[in-house]
Amino acid sequence: MTLGAVAAEGHHRLSTGVGELDAVLGGGLVPGSLVLIGGAPGIGKSTLTTMALANLEAAGHRTLYISAEESAAQIRLRAERLAGDAALRIPVVAETALEVVCATLEAVRPEVCVIDSIQTLHAASLSGAPGSVGQVREATAEVMRVAKQIGIAVLLVGHVTKDGALAGPRVLEHLVDCVLQFEGERERTYRTVRAVKNRFGSTNEVAVFEMRDDGLVEVLDASARFVAEATRAPGSVVLCSMEGSRPLLVEVQALVARSELVPPRRVVSGLDRNRVALVLAVLGRHAGIGLGASDVFVNVVGGVRVEEPGVDLALALAVASAARGVPLTGGGTGSVPLACFGELGLTGELRTVAHPDRRLGEAAKFGLGPVVEPGSCPTLRAALDAAFARARAAVAA
Ligand code: TYD
Ligand code: MG
Repeated sequence: MTLGAVAAEGHHRLSTGVGELDAVLGGGLVPGSLVLIGGAPGIGKSTLTTMALANLEAAGHRTLYISAEESAAQIRLRAERLAGDAALRIPVVAETALEVVCATLEAVRPEVCVIDSIQTLHAASLSGAPGSVGQVREATAEVMRVAKQIGIAVLLVGHVTKDGALAGPRVLEHLVDCVLQFEGERERTYRTVRAVKNRFGSTNEVAVFEMRDDGLVEVLDASARFVAEATRAPGSVVLCSMEGSRPLLVEVQALVARSELVPPRRVVSGLDRNRVALVLAVLGRHAGIGLGASDVFVNVVGGVRVEEPGVDLALALAVASAARGVPLTGGGTGSVPLACFGELGLTGELRTVAHPDRRLGEAAKFGLGPVVEPGSCPTLRAALDAAFARARAAVAA
């Protein structure tokens, strides 16, 4: 049979009522699909899944919350905090036995269910402890069998290891249709959810949330907040970044201090350490800014994680600004932070990154500009010259 002759399944999608979550899923939940949501303890996995179920319940769908981690009373306490009273109407089962969970799914036949979490389910037929490779594999496979058979959209909550990878066997990620990663730091306000695998949508979308007293709130004006909070002190620049298909302005900060240690310290948060090492090497070799005797701290403000090459120039400018103790500003009077983006090549050249027009558009929207970017500066040196010339002009004005 040719692919063209295969009957097409038009899958309708269920909206979770959380716009940002729907966007990350590619337009809502697909019936019969398995979505795995991984994230550190306390980041908000249970909160987000409860909110989604509450909205679906309010929209008239049959839902079910299976908790293998908390008691029903604990889940009720969380539900009480959430805005609206729909969360209190979600049917809940506190159960860790896989056999009971599957039987319940078959009996209740919900349209959407949450299993919190896959690592705490336990199959009596296997000997390992809950969370062990065999147990997680068995639990996922069994849940999937029931879900596909009845057409239940399942949100599986997953644990992560200390370094952020999903706990349990790799096969877990292969089995499910969609893997969402919940990132951010517990003690910070902003958290992001991104799809790292999605059979029904793009893996580029990123949702930004803020944890409030009454649940997670979508942050739709993230750029505005980050720009307003940007410090305009030495070591701070604004990066015009792309989070999937959406431009996002974030502040990148650096601190350079004389080191007492050999080798000096490199403390990185919100960025890839190897990127930082590369940028520091390029700064030393191609811009004469040697940091061999300095501790360097870099941070993306707000707990956001930036994983795209466009961050290189922002890093380089922030570090250069910190090293020289000169604040970098945009505009004529120096009242707005300097905005930039671009990838650094090993020979000190600036390389174009995806969607320059959208990045520039976002910067213009917030009155930032002119932006230092590969289109106007061919090399790191040219970008540094442009940025520091603007800073001098601002001081003179
Ligand atoms: P939780 O969803 O339980 O995290 P996870 O399931 O990922 O471990 O909640 C995370 C934290 O958020 C918890 O410490 C309490 C806090 N929180 C709020 O600040 N506001 C709220 O409305 C809720 C429900 C939780
Ligand atoms: Mg939880």
